Amino acid sequence: MLDIKLMISDLLAKKIPSLNSEDIYNMLEYPPDDKMGDVALPCFKLSRILRKSPIQIAEELVEEIPTNPRIEKVEAVSGYLNFFLDKKTFIEDVLSTVLKKQDSYGARDIGKGKNIVIDYSAPNIAKPFHIGHLRSTAIGNSLYKIFKFLGYNPIGVNHLGDWGTQFGKLIVAYKKWGSKEAIEKGGIKELMAIYVKFHEEAEKAPALEDEARQWFVKMEQGDKEALELWQWFKDISLKEFNKVYDLLGIKFDSYAGESFYEDKMPAVIEELKEKNLLTESEGAMIVDLEEYDMPPCLIIKKDGSTLYATRDIAAAIYRKKTYDFEKCIYVTGAAQSLHFRQWFKVIELMGYDWHDQLIHVPFGIVSLGGEKLATRTGKVVLLEDILDQAINKTLDIINQKNPNLENKEEIARQMGVGAVVFSDLSNNRIKDVSFSWDEILNFDGETGPYVQYTHARACSLLRKAEKEVDPNFNPALLSTEEEFKVAKALYLFPDKIMTAMKELEPSIITRYLVDLAQDFNRFYHEHPILVEDEVLRNARLALVFAVKYTLKNGLQLIGLSAPERV
Ligand code: ARG
Repeated sequence: MLDIKLMISDLLAKKIPSLNSEDIYNMLEYPPDDKMGDVALPCFKLSRILRKSPIQIAEELVEEIPTNPRIEKVEAVSGYLNFFLDKKTFIEDVLSTVLKKQDSYGARDIGKGKNIVIDYSAPNIAKPFHIGHLRSTAIGNSLYKIFKFLGYNPIGVNHLGDWGTQFGKLIVAYKKWGSKEAIEKGGIKELMAIYVKFHEEAEKAPALEDEARQWFVKMEQGDKEALELWQWFKDISLKEFNKVYDLLGIKFDSYAGESFYEDKMPAVIEELKEKNLLTESEGAMIVDLEEYDMPPCLIIKKDGSTLYATRDIAAAIYRKKTYDFEKCIYVTGAAQSLHFRQWFKVIELMGYDWHDQLIHVPFGIVSLGGEKLATRTGKVVLLEDILDQAINKTLDIINQKNPNLENKEEIARQMGVGAVVFSDLSNNRIKDVSFSWDEILNFDGETGPYVQYTHARACSLLRKAEKEVDPNFNPALLSTEEEFKVAKALYLFPDKIMTAMKELEPSIITRYLVDLAQDFNRFYHEHPILVEDEVLRNARLALVFAVKYTLKNGLQLIGLSAPERV
């Protein structure tokens, strides 16, 4: 497929000797309105270099552009140079590319041989998988798919929160108020309940805190009883987390959580000592970061136990050795930004030149708009409940609209989950999101089901056509505004994937899919597709076919299924 911006920047570079094609390429824009052309050069960006007004630059350049079969016309309008593409050659080029590539349209091999570790999801054992972890899971999973599609070798790591002082508290709580039967039956909810009870009681009797600390120290010393209880808590929690991952259709390459680094920390602490980075402060061991305007990074507590940051440092060193990553990406809430800045700095101070390959990808806070629909456990909203609700709601809608749909439970899962995940990935990740059921499950709104529904509509048209699309379609017949708009949207897909990868921002794909679906539906409503005239019908079906694959590939990149019938 011809890179349109490249073609135009090459043309312009010959006329603007002071700039090279690449500079011009980066100045070119896709105008928001078709009347302003398909590609535009904002000439104010050249004013300083050429010492002329934008209007004058545009007017001079417009005279000099040689005729080109791929360009219909060029206009100079108030300081902009607007290029209008030749529609027929453009549509032909775009559609034949998608028709040929299908499942791999948009895929590239720029990441060949490069490992990218993505640390995401990472819920905490004995604590519920809540809606905040959904964000990490959805964003991380999408980044995984995006890197993979671009040829990288992503490694998905679920850095489970399965170590730390909280397990000491849990052991105390279990011994004092827990029962084996209640926990086997109640699972995480029951573990949560005794954990909450611990905090209530510890307010009255602070000695409990010491007891808990001692249990965690015992864990770190390999005490059998302590470790058996810990393993049991972990098994119970994982069983529940796996239910959520199954619903989401997500698997990890590694479940090495915080506990995995237990035996790797002593060497790291030794290394920190050798490198003269550890200092004592009130009985604890820290890395002083005052020089970098940050509070100290706590490495060992007064009682000798390690911390979240200690484990992250050990994990990064281990991962570099094991995976030789080009990037190691951490997807967590923005509240942890300081934590990452601190220990990234420690890695730098240790002399590791790969410290700049560590990347924190923060996201905003999630709140729930339609609160009434959510089952509440303490103060948290369980993701599993949200997904179940979404799936049931979708099943209701299917039962109203299409009760005879085959395999409808599975389709309801795909769309219910799609609704939740899509909504989560709709805005820039750093923005706080508010959940609203009405918005999420509105099949006509800018939602996952809307895009999935549009994909299924394209599939249905192709099924009804009965004949395979002939790749020798006549592009001259796709001459309407709506058709050209769809082709333009299709053209943008590879570019959007690249931007999403560079900005580590799945919402670019999510928003793109809504735009493409809207453009397609406008075309669908304006023009009959299964017409008598076979040549016209084939041309329109070629467009439908290309939309189907682009939507499918895009949905895949944000972790959504693309059911063919809904
Ligand atoms: N378990 C942590 C939490 O729930 C997230 C862990 C993120 N990954 C990491 N390597 N620190 O907030």
